[in-house]
Amino acid sequence: MRRPRTIHRLGGLLAAALLAGCERGSPRPELKDPGKEPASSAPAAPAAVSAVKEPLSELPLGLDAYALKVPADNPVTPAKVELGRHLYFDARLSRDGTVACATCHVAAKGWSNGLKTAVGIGNHVGKRSAPTVINRAFSTLQFWDGRAASLEDQALGPIQNPGEMGNTLENVVATVKGIAGYVPLFVAAFGDEAVSPDRIAKAIASFERTILSGSSPYDRYQSGEKSALNEEAVRGMQVFLDNNKGRCSICHAGFNFTDEKFHNIGIGADKPDWEKEHIGRFEVTKAEKDKGAYKTPTLRQIAATGPYMHDGSEATLEAVVEYYAKGGNPNPHLDPEMKKLTLTDQEKRDLVEFLKALTGDVTRVERPEPLK
Ligand code: HEC
Ligand code: HEC
Repeated sequence: MRRPRTIHRLGGLLAAALLAGCERGSPRPELKDPGKEPASSAPAAPAAVSAVKEPLSELPLGLDAYALKVPADNPVTPAKVELGRHLYFDARLSRDGTVACATCHVAAKGWSNGLKTAVGIGNHVGKRSAPTVINRAFSTLQFWDGRAASLEDQALGPIQNPGEMGNTLENVVATVKGIAGYVPLFVAAFGDEAVSPDRIAKAIASFERTILSGSSPYDRYQSGEKSALNEEAVRGMQVFLDNNKGRCSICHAGFNFTDEKFHNIGIGADKPDWEKEHIGRFEVTKAEKDKGAYKTPTLRQIAATGPYMHDGSEATLEAVVEYYAKGGNPNPHLDPEMKKLTLTDQEKRDLVEFLKALTGDVTRVERPEPLK
């Protein structure tokens, strides 16, 4: 069996980082945040999830080790990452053996899948677009509406979703138990061969925490390599940051280009069924203000993950910029920060050029041979 080196290196590092997180170390270094808000203004992590407090030297350039979110009861270890890698690519976790996590979150497609909305078992077409799974290590709330509190919490969702992998947890546990090749991986990861939904979730979440994107031309530019961005991208960055121009960093703030909050930017509000089908965060909080609000997604690797938005309704980055330029679709809950923008055609092109400069180095992962 071939083992991907990068994964193990990162897995080990993340584990070391968590162990180092027991005490508060040196003060938080000043970050090269593109946004106005420092990352520390993001909502506090739930009690079970502790941010790592020691810096890491080997994270890809531009990523903030202080912002890693790893639950105290699930430190990242190379053995868990390796088990998680096998589970992530294993279609036998689905009811009919045809769909794996990797079917919808594809490495070659920026860990999304290029489809407007996701397609699961029996060619069931879902209602939402598959987000990328890069840089999830920096987030607690998962899904477009944030209904999962952690990656662990998230992982068992698609397995049981009738339109995605359509399985039962009982069945998954029985299937995994029946594959002898998994035994040594469970022993290495958890100390014994017991298979449980909890262990499956922990291993998959650990694997996901190693899928990182950083060291983009933007990061290299920020670290002093001025030739890393062309003139258009530098101008686009200024438009992105300027609250009288693009206003993008009001929400796409910090090193991961997200405030980790929920906003109604009007996606779907032009559809007659929007109060039913595009209700977003409201489904979770039942708060009026959350109607139509969705999680601000990271913009790292964004050129690779189209089509865009929770419903895949914007096909290209150019279309996204036009959408923002018109101030979004009007609706009673539109975020007050959504305003009609005054952008020249050149500024729109520059903005797109800047977004393309957020394409970085992503952790390389080999698809494992199915275990026997
Ligand atoms: C049929 C396609 C499909 C499959 C299979 C699938 N996903 Fe997803 N995934 C999606 C869609 C669609 C969403 C967004 C759903 C939502 O927000 O309601 C999503 C959301 C996520 C998110 C949240 C990302 C974020 O930014 O909030 C993570 C993490 C994730 N999936 C990981 C997984 C894992 C792990 C598996 C396997 C156990 C998996 N997915 C299987 C389509 C899929
Ligand atoms: C008020 C907060 C806010 C502002 C301002 C904002 N965004 Fe967004 N952005 C969001 C949210 C929330 C989403 C997801 C919305 C949805 O799917 O319903 C999003 C989605 C996106 C996406 C699609 C991401 C994906 O994975 O599908 C891109 C690209 C994007 N924004 C770029 C920009 C740019 C460029 C600007 C400035 C012109 C900008 N945003 C301004 C909050 C904001």
